[in-house]
Amino acid sequence: MKSNRKSGDAASNRKGGTPFWEKMKPQKPVRPAKKEASVKPQKMLQVTRVAPGQAQEKGWDQVAQWYEGLVGDEGSDYHKHVIVPALMKRLGDVSGRRVIDVCCGQGFLGKMLRHAGASRVQGVDASPQLIAAARQRHIDDAQQRYLVADACQPGAWADGSYDVAICLMAVHDVPDLRGLFQNIARSLTPQGRALLVFMHPCFRFPQHTHWGWDAEKQIQYRRIDRYGSEHTIHITTHPGKKNSQQTKFYHRPLPSYINTLAAAGLAVTGCDELFTHRRSQVGPRSKAEHFAAEQFPMFLLWELRLCPGLQ
Ligand SMILES: C[S@@+](CC[C@H](N)C(=O)[O-])C[C@H]1O[C@@H](n2cnc3c(N)ncnc32)[C@H](O)[C@@H]1O
Repeated sequence: MKSNRKSGDAASNRKGGTPFWEKMKPQKPVRPAKKEASVKPQKMLQVTRVAPGQAQEKGWDQVAQWYEGLVGDEGSDYHKHVIVPALMKRLGDVSGRRVIDVCCGQGFLGKMLRHAGASRVQGVDASPQLIAAARQRHIDDAQQRYLVADACQPGAWADGSYDVAICLMAVHDVPDLRGLFQNIARSLTPQGRALLVFMHPCFRFPQHTHWGWDAEKQIQYRRIDRYGSEHTIHITTHPGKKNSQQTKFYHRPLPSYINTLAAAGLAVTGCDELFTHRRSQVGPRSKAEHFAAEQFPMFLLWELRLCPGLQ
């Protein structure tokens, strides 16, 4: 079979479909002065009431049904093959540990954390529909609890009682990084640690990073059009569909992350770069495409520890 050379993008030629964060079409940069078109939320599960002041960022409630379908009980393709294996390896033995899953979505991770020995899992997410799905998913496990809350706002859940805090694929979805990191720091015991997995900001910035083909050198290269400044874009869930729902993606360069973590008293003490498991189909460029897939990471995993002197 031929390699997909039309787009010059190995990512669009992978088996099993394009990952959702690549499939969703980025829109024009957000202009704060402009009012967003309101999108009617879909009815999927019973909507839990949100206390005033909580869950300011409701972007994911509109796409809850789609996200639940994508992730299901086992996680999305990337969760299953790349993100969760790397997370579990870093996590190690969590027997008897209390774990908080910040921006937990529909809670697929809870079961895996419990299987790894966690004595209790607390999930927090701003989307009432995703939290309803998480509660429904783990209805038989009293040691898994799920709460609707804006993870960027001060909340009683960030109470210094957790041995491990996890935040998967969400730091680029929250508007207030400082608030999020402060809460993660406040949720931990003094010996606790946090694990973040997120889109690698150096190589994955929707609309601004692409694959390209250098015919002379016969290499697939990664083109980075923009990196060094914070930037917000709209992501359309179903490009081409009229009135498709949108979520926001917040790009931040590495210093924004590391300095905001330090201000919250958190230091990066471990780092893994995660590469796609997918490969393009056999063709004249596949060797170069595979090499590129092994050279340009998709996700960044950071292990963090409290370091109060940093603040
Ligand atoms: C890409 S999903 C990831 C969900 C889950 N961690 C996973 O890996 O499947 C991003 C999640 O961040 C949540 N989120 C975005 N902003 C939030 C906020 N301010 N407070 C809490 N959750 C938020 C969304 O509701 C959504 O569930």
